[in-house]
Amino acid sequence: MGELALDISKVRKVYSGKVEALRGISLQVEKGRVFGLLGPNGAGKSTLVKILTTIIRPTHCEGEMLGKPIGHKPTLGRIGYLPEHARFPDYLSGVQVLEFAAGLCGISPRKCAQRSAELMELVGMTDWQHKPLKTYSKGMKQRIGVAQALVNDPEIVFLDEPTDGVDPAGRRDIRLLMERLRGENRTVFVNSHLLGELELICDDVAILSQGAIKMEGNLKELTGKQTEFRIKYEGELPADMEPILKTHRCRREPGLVIAPALLAKEVMPLLDALRSKGVVISGLERRSLTLEELFLGVVGDDRPGAGPPPLKGRSKA
Ligand SMILES: Nc1ncnc2c1ncn2[C@@H]1O[C@H](COP(=O)(O)OP(=O)(O)OP(=O)(O)O)[C@@H](O)[C@H]1O
Ligand SMILES: [Mg+2]
Repeated sequence: MGELALDISKVRKVYSGKVEALRGISLQVEKGRVFGLLGPNGAGKSTLVKILTTIIRPTHCEGEMLGKPIGHKPTLGRIGYLPEHARFPDYLSGVQVLEFAAGLCGISPRKCAQRSAELMELVGMTDWQHKPLKTYSKGMKQRIGVAQALVNDPEIVFLDEPTDGVDPAGRRDIRLLMERLRGENRTVFVNSHLLGELELICDDVAILSQGAIKMEGNLKELTGKQTEFRIKYEGELPADMEPILKTHRCRREPGLVIAPALLAKEVMPLLDALRSKGVVISGLERRSLTLEELFLGVVGDDRPGAGPPPLKGRSKA
């Protein structure tokens, strides 16, 4: 593993002494990579990001971000953050939102003017930058949210559901932006449950469920580790094929027998059995799991909202 932007362990958060949102998780994120934290609603994704950005206090947390202990306030000047459901005063223009964010980071007005022009261009909002936010669509507000997260030229940027409410073209733009940030050797930490999107961009992922990390690692390795062979056949399968399909843990789709296996040679006995029964095989394809399949395999029956029970009269920590 290369140099780490984030190296944390035993992170625990119990809200109001009742809801255990994080159950002692450990996580490493390499510098210059796009890291995706995935998980169903209520898994604890935003809680973790809020701890790292010092918005809430952990019950327990060990480790470092950019070489400094978690909670080290000056390090916040080196990170960017787009909160989940970010709202900015809608009487401000896009530029004013950036000026406000720059002011909080202690950036001079002259430097801010230059930076905000660059960022507006980057998020495709140049033509709208002087109009008030109340005239923006949801996706345009989100673009401004991404821009303000980059105002201080951060080394690591946390994007909590950055494509929330953004249309497909806007989502692609945000994805390209993340690629660009990676190209500039920044670290991008993105929370999302839009798996198809993350699959296109993330180098590494961790799957969080009910406050615990269920799986983590390089995305290609994780999805490539579990492959299946899709055997296409013509006509009908003879009824007495069931036992052999069961032996090979196959599932069926119309015109397809799908066998989990890593190597082609593992499915040869199955092909022989099919052929010996006169089945005409018209295709064989090896396929890696998609991120969605991996996710559902890990998270299983966790349905939206299946995290720890919410408190009555939830309080802000
Ligand atoms: N301020 C709070 N007080 C009490 N419980 C909270 C608070 N904030 C979050 N929780 C609970 O902590 C758990 C984790 O919530 P969190 O917002 O971190 O999940 P998430 O993975 O970001 O979910 P989503 O995908 O819906 O954004 C949930 O059960 C939630 O109800
Ligand atoms: Mg969240």
